Amino acid sequence: MTSEDGPVEGKPVESSAEREVEQAIEPEAPPIDGLLRNGLLAGLAPHTLATDFGTPLYVYDLDLVGRRIDALGAVLPFGFRLAFAVKANPALGVLTHIAGSGIGADVASGGELEAVLRAGFAPVAIAMTGPGKRDDELAAAVTAGIGAVTVESLGELARLDAIAERLRRRQPILLRLAVADDAKFERVRLIGGAAGKFGMPLPVLREAAGIAAASPNLELLGVHAFGASNLLDASRLADHVAELVAVGEEVATATGVPLRLVDAGGGLGIPYADGEQPLDLALLGTRLEELRGRWDSNPALREMEVLLEPGRFLVGPAGAYVGRVVDVKGTDKAPVAILDGGINHLVRPALVRQEHRLAVLAPDADSRDRVPTTVAGPLCTGLDVFTLHAKLPRPQVGDLIAVLDAGAYGFTESMPFFLSHPTAAEIAVRGGHACLIRPRVSPHDLLDQQIAPRW
Ligand SMILES: Cc1ncc(COP(=O)(O)O)c(C=O)c1O
Repeated sequence: MTSEDGPVEGKPVESSAEREVEQAIEPEAPPIDGLLRNGLLAGLAPHTLATDFGTPLYVYDLDLVGRRIDALGAVLPFGFRLAFAVKANPALGVLTHIAGSGIGADVASGGELEAVLRAGFAPVAIAMTGPGKRDDELAAAVTAGIGAVTVESLGELARLDAIAERLRRRQPILLRLAVADDAKFERVRLIGGAAGKFGMPLPVLREAAGIAAASPNLELLGVHAFGASNLLDASRLADHVAELVAVGEEVATATGVPLRLVDAGGGLGIPYADGEQPLDLALLGTRLEELRGRWDSNPALREMEVLLEPGRFLVGPAGAYVGRVVDVKGTDKAPVAILDGGINHLVRPALVRQEHRLAVLAPDADSRDRVPTTVAGPLCTGLDVFTLHAKLPRPQVGDLIAVLDAGAYGFTESMPFFLSHPTAAEIAVRGGHACLIRPRVSPHDLLDQQIAPRW
């Protein structure tokens, strides 16, 4: 035993038996995967939630969101920051919770900007990125004093310059690099991105950088590029950051404006299917630490910060969509369960043709036989199917069925008006308490907003 292992002055010495007890009861690290555990959603009984709030509904576990933010933040090296991509889940109740965690926000519209300002994000921690930003949206961003507007084209650069001049503000900006379209599920290729809807090809970006550097109304911080969606490979994410920093360094050298910020976008993935491995956060941290080490030995990059804008990773596993079985048809061997909501509330499985995991939440589900089951919604389109032939406990009318990993691109990406059903309610759970954060909108409410002209 070295002296460092010995008792610290004033601190009682533990017996080995005491140490053993301590080890035995040492709590496990709280889980950061899904919100369904032991048949409970965010620790609450699904049927109680359904009774209290009706169905269909979205349930979000805010404590789990917090743990996911902490887990990601814990592996990031010095000089890395996070901004939540609001497009993944813009519910005010969710945003307010995330704002409280101290990370920033990435918005893609004036509406999202208004939401994050209401939720309490500091303007300087907000970035605005996305094609087709209107003048009123750019003016709102400049007026609010947000930390960075990501410019997507030469035209947008000219409009933002004029707006900043009119408002007598100097707006910090990033320049968005186009990523080759065919790179979606391959290694991200930054250079040579064709002129498309997102960002600028490198020669155009260089030109934009020259213009921005010369403008008294714009403060050029660096570059932005979104790599690929739902990446589960930590090394590819790190490669994307490294390649983008190299582009940023080149642009900084050409303009003489130091590289202050590189925004590598989102794309941190989550498993949707059984057997998929979650993103290896430890490996991501190690790879990013290696990069930070290299940058720190380069005086041009020492002061540079890196922003990541995860959406799906932070909120996806923390949300579930819950519907009630209205009808069971098909055959004994292959039942078809029809829920009281479908792609009008959660279009993602149909949109990207990716089934989510489903769970039958009946108390006796474990004792039922498991059969290949189709689960569909009530809409008059063949697209309205959550799963074809998933092996599930035999469904019964009245059961609750949860579509898991629906906290990102769920409610917000849905098509709520098709067939005039009620919308889904949204519920947030924190510390074991459930709170309605967005009430259901009835067809009646929607009719009241319409005008039938009396010609
Ligand atoms: C600019 C930008 N940042 C961040 C995100 C968030 O991506 P994800 O939810 O995959 O992390 C997106 C998604 O489209 C995006 O376009």
